[in-house]
Order: sequence, then C-alpha cells, then structure tokens
Amino acid sequence: CGIVGYVGPQPALDVVVDGLGRLEYRGYDSAGVAVFADGGLTTQKRAGKLGNLRSVLPTQRTADGTAGIGHTRWATHGAPTDRNAHPHVDNDNRVAVVHNGIIENFARLRLELEELGCKFRSETDTEVAAHLLSIQLQHNGGDLAAALRCVCQRLEGTFTLVASSVDDPGLVVAARRNSPLVVGRGEGENFLASDVAAFIAHTRSAVELGQDQVVELRSDSIRVTDYEGNPAPVREYHVDWDASAAEKDGYDYFMLKEIVEQPRAVADTLLGRLGVDGTLSLDEMRLSAADLRDIHKIVIIAAGTSYHAGLIAKYAIEHWCRIPCEVEVASEFRYRDPILDAQTLVIAISQSGESLDTMMALRHAREQRSKVLAICNVNGSSIPREADAVVYTHAGPEVGVAATKTFLTQLVACYLVGMYLAQVRGLKFGDEVQAIIDQLANMPDAVTRVLDTIEPVRQLARSLETAHCVLFLGRHVGYPVALEGALKLKELAYMHAEAFAAGELKHGPIALIEEGLPVVVVVPSREGRGVLHDKLVSNIQEIRARGARTIVIAEEGDETVRPYADELIEIPAVPTLLQPVVATVPLQVFACELALAKGNDVDQPRNLAKSVTVE
Ligand code: G6P
Repeated sequence: CGIVGYVGPQPALDVVVDGLGRLEYRGYDSAGVAVFADGGLTTQKRAGKLGNLRSVLPTQRTADGTAGIGHTRWATHGAPTDRNAHPHVDNDNRVAVVHNGIIENFARLRLELEELGCKFRSETDTEVAAHLLSIQLQHNGGDLAAALRCVCQRLEGTFTLVASSVDDPGLVVAARRNSPLVVGRGEGENFLASDVAAFIAHTRSAVELGQDQVVELRSDSIRVTDYEGNPAPVREYHVDWDASAAEKDGYDYFMLKEIVEQPRAVADTLLGRLGVDGTLSLDEMRLSAADLRDIHKIVIIAAGTSYHAGLIAKYAIEHWCRIPCEVEVASEFRYRDPILDAQTLVIAISQSGESLDTMMALRHAREQRSKVLAICNVNGSSIPREADAVVYTHAGPEVGVAATKTFLTQLVACYLVGMYLAQVRGLKFGDEVQAIIDQLANMPDAVTRVLDTIEPVRQLARSLETAHCVLFLGRHVGYPVALEGALKLKELAYMHAEAFAAGELKHGPIALIEEGLPVVVVVPSREGRGVLHDKLVSNIQEIRARGARTIVIAEEGDETVRPYADELIEIPAVPTLLQPVVATVPLQVFACELALAKGNDVDQPRNLAKSVTVE
C-alpha cells in the first residue's frame, strides 16, 4: 500500500492526491484521502484506481485544509470496495487513520470494541485502529501522539499507521513497525510517505524512521519518539533521485521506458566497481575479508523476479567461488527451520528493500548469527538497513510493477558479489574470471544491441495475442531466464505460462505439447558449454516433432538452431554465465507487447503491487 501525509500551507488535498499518484504502483485496488480544515474532517474514498477517486473530488476547493492523509490500497482484509478503502474514521468522525500492513489481532480487538459500542463500517483490520485511537484520545486529554503510542502497544503484526484529528488540524502523527515510512522535510511544510517518490517534487531532504518509532509532524517541526515517548535518533539524508526519472518522458507506459533504460542502469551499477587491473571494489560491502573467508555456505533469499536473479547467481557463485549456494523463496525459508550459523552468508535480494517475506527471512538469519548481505535498489529502505552489508543496484526509480531494469542490475550486482568473494578468498583469478570482468564492462552495449533489433519480437508477440498458453524452456542459467519469461507473461498478459528445465521435459511436461503450442527456448551460448548447447538443440527437435511452434532465443551466428526455429531471436554472444542479461530482454518485450495487444495496463497489472509489505 502507499501512504501519504502532509502538513503545510499548500492545499493539502492537492499535495496528497499528487503524492498518491506517484505511489500508485504500490497498490491500486482503491484509494482515499482525508483532509483536515478548521473544525472539520472530509474523507473521500473509492474502489479502483486513483482515477476513480480523482473523478469524485471537488474541483472547487471550499476548505483547502492544512493537513491531509491519503492511501492507495493493496487489499488484505476485506474486498477492494469503497467502504473498505482507507482512510477509516471513528464513530464521531473526529479521527482518521490510514494503514499499511496487517493487524494480526484485529478480530479480538474488534469484538472488544463492539462490546464498547463501536459501530464498524468496514471489514478491514485498520478500522480497529481508528476506534482505539478515538477512545485513547479521550483518556490522553487529546494528545494524539500519546494516544497513538498507546494504541501501537496493543496492536500485533506489521503496520505503519498515519492519523490526524479534527481537534488539532495542524498535526499528522504516524507510527512505524516493519512497514516503510519516510519523512520529507520541507520549508514551512513537512511530508510523510511510504516512499520518497511521493514528495521529491517538493523536497529532497528526507528523514528515515526506525522500527517502532512515532513521528509528530507539524508544518514547522518533526518530532520522533519511541513507543514510550522518549526522543529517538533519526538519520537525515539527501535524495539524489531525479524527480524527472519518475516521469514517463513521452512513453505511454513506465515499463516501456524502463526496458529502454536498461543499458544505462547496467552501466550505472557497474560504475566505479570494475578496476582496470581486474580488481573489484564494493565499498559498501562492510563485511571484512576475514568474515568472507570464513564462509562455508551461501543462502540466497528473495521473492518473485528477485528470486530468479538469485537462481542465476547460484550458478555464478558456485562456479567461481566453490562455495555451496542454496536459493530459496523468502516466504518458505524461515518456516522450515533452515540450518544456519555464523559461517553462513545470507544474500537477501529485493529491489524495493521492503518485501516483508524477505525482511522476515533476513531477521531469522540474523537471529541464527548468519551475516546478511542485501542487494537492493532503494537507498535507506528497510532490508539494507537491517542487513550487515549492502550492494546497491543503481537502476533509478522503477515504477512499472513488473521488474525489468532492477532485475538486470540485480544480475550485475550478483556477478560482482560472486567475483568479489572469489577475489577475497584468494581463489586464483584464472583467465575465465578475467574475461568475465572484461565482458561485464561490455554488457551495456550488448543490451543496447538487443534493444536495437527488438522490432520482430514485438510483431511476434502481437501475433500471439489469442494464444492460451506459452511454455518456456532453458538449461543451466537459461532455466531461470525461462522462469522469468513465464512470470512476466503471467504478470502482464494474465496468460497461462510455464517454464521447465529443458531436460525435465521428457519426464512429464512433454505431454503438454500439441500442434501450434508456442514454446520459447533459451539456447545456451556455445562458448565453454558445448554439450549443454547441443543437448538443448536436441530438445528443440523433440518438441518440434510433436507440433510445437518453436520460438528460439540463441546467440548471433548460431546456425545449428536455425533449421528447428519457427522464429529465431538473436542475441549477442556473451559468456554463458552472463547470458541472462541479454536473453531476458526479448522476453520482457515479448510479455509487455503481448499484454498491450490484449489491452492490459502493463504498469499496474491486476491484483499485483510493486512492494508487498505483508507476509
Ligand atoms: C512483488 C512484485 C514482483 C517482485 C516481488 C519481489 O510481488 O510484484 O514484481 O519481483 O514483489 O519484490 P522485491 O522488491 O523484494 O524485489
């Protein structure tokens, strides 16, 4: 969910709705605002995208309001209806609350509040917070921050709560536990949001809030305390993302722009990290060489697309570093009691730095004394803050919900980490690793070349608009690439898509092949791993003999696949381990174009959200 709060001289409604527009990628089931003006509170909320809310807002502002809060929702408790949209208010319409996360003990609290006479108007967990706050406010003589601190002590689960009251319309208070929240410090005005994108048009000065902190925001002051009311330390930082980086720049969709930005994103992630003499520098690594030398196992945890980056990293890390490396989806990891110790390095990959599944897995690993390294795109987000070390990707803001440039840069970061580990562990940097370092520097150009010749992929995608299902096959690092291609198609085109390790096909899935079924095959590069390449060429023949329409992604000049490819998509020849960087790009374009042909919104696919801050 996306949260915005504002206190200051500008019309609060405009600032809050504009901020919500920049956070809509975080959830778009419903949206709502509450504005506080002298003596009154006005709320408006609507199911569906922000446009629905905008259409019911008054064009004539009668009371502009000095403070406002707003919310874009990704539904957890209660269907995405007008009534369940945030903000939620108490029965006297004096207090309004927006919330991100899940209040796990809400059912018990709701019963208790109903016994006290509270009338519930929604099915959400959030509404209990509004009623509790209203009751507590009476006990606290109208001190909203003190009331919120008391309420937080009663709530279990993860949350960020933002509230305001008609009794003090120049004040917005917020409490943070686990779910993200940042303060923007302006001149005579202050902001609150789940992401700096909501306020970078107004200020670049941000204040990071820690776990279990409460902030009181007035137009001229920001006060942060812990749940007991003691002043809490905060970190201020400058946001260096360019506001225009979060604009569409003439593209119809952010996703189209973000795909094109990939060469730049890859180059920025490499910048300053590859030494001319074959050395690598990862300054933010913060783990000592001694710690890294002691590691005897690596575990990678991540979700969604980031998990696919982790699968690819395993191939590279095990090959270069000879350290056993496991990869697991974060939501499964901690619940199976994994074997961890102080010599295990856990790598948490998350573009947003906020996925709660990954965050909880990270905490579990740290409790078991493992060192955690985060790979993340958002400076100051929760996961890097709780990790022992971080390697940032420099993709810039990614607004499209389906990850593209953040994925490519995660791959680059994983390669850098793998080679860095090999370097500090004193493994002999053979010719292969040296060649990889040189080749990494060429990856931005290689991705540019893929994009320059992408038009036939677009046409192919449009021709498949009515297909019911697409299969994806790969071997070695091509297998996670196939998984990512299938995920993109599910996310964007709402189409049944599945990926298999090509060698597994014969053990079952080959029964799915029927006349005309489109099957995308990612062919390994010929360099170094000839056997693998030839085996995959055999797999293509097997499916083609059974009627599949083969869409083959292979490196330029690979004539061996041509006779078996109904469609051939050529990508630059690069070392096998780096091939995912170029092979994924046509699959992103394929899914995006097919979804557009179906009339889908590729920036905000149904049911999804960019950062999922619930488990
Ligand atoms: C959500 C998004 C996915 C993303 C996943 C992991 O489910 O819809 O696109 O891959 O979260 O996100 P993270 O920010 O942790 O990389």
